[in-house]
Amino acid sequence: MKKNAVALATSLAVGLTIGLAGTAAMAQQQSVEVLHWWTSGSEAGALNVLKANLEKQGVKWNDMPVAGGGGEAAMTALRARVTSGNPPTASQMLGFDILDWGKQGVVADLNALAQKDGWDKVVPPALQKFSKYNGKWIAAPVNVHSTNWVWANQAVLAKAGVTAEPKTWDEFIAAAEKVQKAGFIALAHGGQPWQDATLFDSVAMATGGVDYYRKAFIDLDTKTINSPTTEKVFQRMAQLRKLVDKDFSGRDWNVASGMVIGGKAGFQIMGDWAKGEFVNAKLVPGKDFACFRFPGTQGTVTFNADQFVMFTLKDAGKTAAQQKLAAAIMDPGFQSTFNVAKGSAPARTDVPDTAFDACGKKAIKDLAEASKANTLVGSIGHGHAEPASIKNAFYDVITRHFNGQLDDKKAVAAMVSAAKN
Ligand code: BGC
Repeated sequence: MKKNAVALATSLAVGLTIGLAGTAAMAQQQSVEVLHWWTSGSEAGALNVLKANLEKQGVKWNDMPVAGGGGEAAMTALRARVTSGNPPTASQMLGFDILDWGKQGVVADLNALAQKDGWDKVVPPALQKFSKYNGKWIAAPVNVHSTNWVWANQAVLAKAGVTAEPKTWDEFIAAAEKVQKAGFIALAHGGQPWQDATLFDSVAMATGGVDYYRKAFIDLDTKTINSPTTEKVFQRMAQLRKLVDKDFSGRDWNVASGMVIGGKAGFQIMGDWAKGEFVNAKLVPGKDFACFRFPGTQGTVTFNADQFVMFTLKDAGKTAAQQKLAAAIMDPGFQSTFNVAKGSAPARTDVPDTAFDACGKKAIKDLAEASKANTLVGSIGHGHAEPASIKNAFYDVITRHFNGQLDDKKAVAAMVSAAKN
């Protein structure tokens, strides 16, 4: 009897252990698959913070990176996945692409979580406009980047005799020419359509101001596009073209950042994801590199906010993991650590700026001020003009002009036709 009791107790204990281990294994099996285009050193480093936070909660991270800044290739890959009935848990996305997916009826409803965690109160309306479809939260915004920045190598500028930050277009061109004359590449740039369009963003804002930018490229008012101002924008783009090196074609944006970091080039005009690369290379703002708003755009911000759109999943376990992913993205502590590494500002307005460097603090302050002054506007180079397809139509014209295939006047006419379609 006694023997049997012991045997029974032992087998119960063993069974219990196996049962517990089984449950633990099941919990560990929770996983998310995340599609994104964060493949540079600093981008991957920033994303690792999220990955680690989820793994601490027992959620496995299946990475689906699709290289290509601006996300064009990623969006093509996403389309293939969703149309074949096998969406990822979530995908990085920008602007009107998000609302297009909302329309397709394939996205998850995050309203219960958003309500529980009070997202409505902490995410600025300019972002919420893209995070919600028909009043329903469908995406978790992770950051706010902006495109109207210049990054400069301080040592190169000193060697070239550039002693003050250029505040106007003419001062910028004069400074860049000094850099060129001193034997450096003036402007580190990668000739890819989205990068050309990122230059265009800043030049258009600097040349026409915020009302022109909005009317022309957000409202697609063809009269405003068909104007001497747009012609001047293209003239200025042609001036920038003279400041890049002969090997610029097809170069990745982070390679261009590397040229400024390594002291080969003076300036890069790029969104603040570039800062992630500078910091990742252990450069210090204010000492090794400078960040300043593209001359003539001070007081305005052309933003692009990365958001993670959540897709409807059939499996309950996967849906539970998806909720954990969304909550982890919106965690204020995570938004601080992540955005310090990424070069962006947090998507939540209640995240303190204490952990951010001087450029990050400026980004957060500029954003708040621009939002108040109504000079915060979505970047056309990064998907914040409607319809979403207009982005590619504009890219086409901007790139053809930048490569000398269209003169300034023809480029204006081509922008008008792009806006009409
Ligand atoms: C995204 C950034 C990203 C950059 C380059 C932009 O469209 O908003 O998060 O770092 O592309 O890949």
